[in-house]
Amino acid sequence: MVKEGKVDQLPTPTSSSNTRSNNRKTRRYLPYALLVSCFVLGTFVSSRSNYLNFELGAKFKQAVSRCHQNTDSTAGVCVQAGALYPQSSKNAEVWTQVGELLETDAFQTLAIDKLSGLIQIPSESYDNMPPPGEDPRWETMGQVHDYLAQAFPLVHKALSLTKVNTYGLLYEWTGTDSSLKPYILAAHQDVVPVNPETIDTWTHPPYSGFFDGTNIWGRGAADDKASLAAIMLTLETLLGKGWTPARTVVLAFGFDEESSGLHGARSLGKALEETYGRDAFEFIVDEGGGFDEVYGAVFATPGVAEKGYIDVKVDVTSPGGHSSVPPAHTTIGYLASLITEFEKNPYPIELARGSVPHETLLCAASHGETIPRGLKHAILKSRHSDKAMRQVEKLFVLPNLWYSSLVGTTQAVDIISGGVKANALPESASAIINHRINTESSIKETTARDGHTIADLAYSLNLTLNAFGEDLIPASAYASEAKGHVELSLAFHHELEPAPRTPTTGKQWDFLSGTIKATYNAHRGLDGDNNIFMSPGMSTGNTDTRYYWNLTRNIFRYNHKNGASTGVHTVNENIALDHYLEIVRFFTTLIVNADEVAF
Ligand SMILES: *[C@@H]1O[C@H](CO)[C@@H](O)[C@H](O)[C@H]1NC(C)=O
Ligand SMILES: *[C@@H]1O[C@H](CO)[C@@H](O)[C@H](O)[C@H]1NC(C)=O
Ligand SMILES: [Zn+2]
Repeated sequence: MVKEGKVDQLPTPTSSSNTRSNNRKTRRYLPYALLVSCFVLGTFVSSRSNYLNFELGAKFKQAVSRCHQNTDSTAGVCVQAGALYPQSSKNAEVWTQVGELLETDAFQTLAIDKLSGLIQIPSESYDNMPPPGEDPRWETMGQVHDYLAQAFPLVHKALSLTKVNTYGLLYEWTGTDSSLKPYILAAHQDVVPVNPETIDTWTHPPYSGFFDGTNIWGRGAADDKASLAAIMLTLETLLGKGWTPARTVVLAFGFDEESSGLHGARSLGKALEETYGRDAFEFIVDEGGGFDEVYGAVFATPGVAEKGYIDVKVDVTSPGGHSSVPPAHTTIGYLASLITEFEKNPYPIELARGSVPHETLLCAASHGETIPRGLKHAILKSRHSDKAMRQVEKLFVLPNLWYSSLVGTTQAVDIISGGVKANALPESASAIINHRINTESSIKETTARDGHTIADLAYSLNLTLNAFGEDLIPASAYASEAKGHVELSLAFHHELEPAPRTPTTGKQWDFLSGTIKATYNAHRGLDGDNNIFMSPGMSTGNTDTRYYWNLTRNIFRYNHKNGASTGVHTVNENIALDHYLEIVRFFTTLIVNADEVAF
């Protein structure tokens, strides 16, 4: 998972008082009042409409239809597909057998061992590493490769393996039916470095892979080695049972996801497009959302969108000189004012109708059992009413920093520099602003807004301004010489547009829905279609899939993790054995189902 890597889940509102304001009574009875008046109106129209003249009838019908929009009907909102179980005897049998195996001590010991061994390799990736071959720190990935080869011998016998840019792993399990589009299971081999100062605070050492009887501990246990081990173990188990796929399965394991995938996923994405072609895959499953209980119902929230990303450099230059004769403002002073101006003008947080964060809320409103009535009403009404949308923002989005960050474009001043000597005026000073661009916006819109945010201030300070190549305030704007110059530019070249949206209706979504529901049921001995609900989800960060957009429209950032992850990117990372086993069950169900579904 990415650095910001919150598991995609609906946060519960920060305080219940936010959902019930002063007008407690009105709010409580309003839905009933509406319901009653609509009911009366509806009855009146249907029984009398034959007798009313046309005009009046039409007016009443309009009123009734408005009424229907106002009621809390959840019909057609967050529609659910059914659970999907393997049907053919070949597939149903192997699926049942693996399910039984998961409950045995012998298999559990084996599963723990495989994950624990993988955790024991400290495959850390760092920011700004030179390519493999130029930096010895990459060599731990070689240990990962050796380990996988000895831990999963059947996989390494049956699948072809290509190493991309030295450490990227690209496996192909060739299916018997080449007319079926293949799919990709993705994971990453690297982990976030352990801060050496925190080692003492880990309950079990970060690279121990210790199993305490319930949980498996260590850096990478949850992010993302449980997925990687689960995928490999699933394949090894299916191969051990003599099962082989009709549909080709491709595995893509990057090695620097935690530092933007520049060497790993970027090379893998290119290799995949060269080998298989554009849009050659039915779907991709990578890390991302999991499932959790929200408002009394369990929701799975696969990530179906990602925010965009840019780093903006703000550079201020002005003539230097001796600090004993200083002007009113130095470049550092100007920069400070400019930063303050940015912070005074945060990007608006507006929930867009039909955006993923809006759809997530619609699912919560239509299936959550304990969602406060006022919030539920506002969410359902926001499908048609802007006023209700503003109400949802007020009740739910704005009080919740995580959700606000999901909805709006964010800005964070993360790096600042300027000045070298106490007695010399700094000729330049600069800062880096990191933006996560909301899914409804773009790089262009964001850079344009940044330029305009500081233009007035720059002008009042007698500074010229060039924003991303455009002279917003040229020297000719001033009668006398400008006091200095401000330049906005893109830094580091990690820029990324918001990701294309994965469709959340249609065969691929229904396939994933059915697979998740069957997995959830089987793991708990349940029946039925709605023990767990599917909801479009999103996280605030990005995954390796940023390099896979050309390969398929159906990118699901989801690995069936149960509950909020513990210790991801910090101390005491661990995963419960039962949760890890359920991930194995998920991949087993997915692979077997994928062989039967006609997309
Ligand atoms: C900007 O320049 C104008 C005249 O060119 C001057 O009157 C004004 O005081 C200057 N403002 C600052 C902040 O330097
Ligand atoms: C996807 O395809 C476009 C057009 O061919 C290309 O410019 C772009 O670099 C590709 N994206 C990735 C991530 O490879
Ligand atoms: Zn990860």
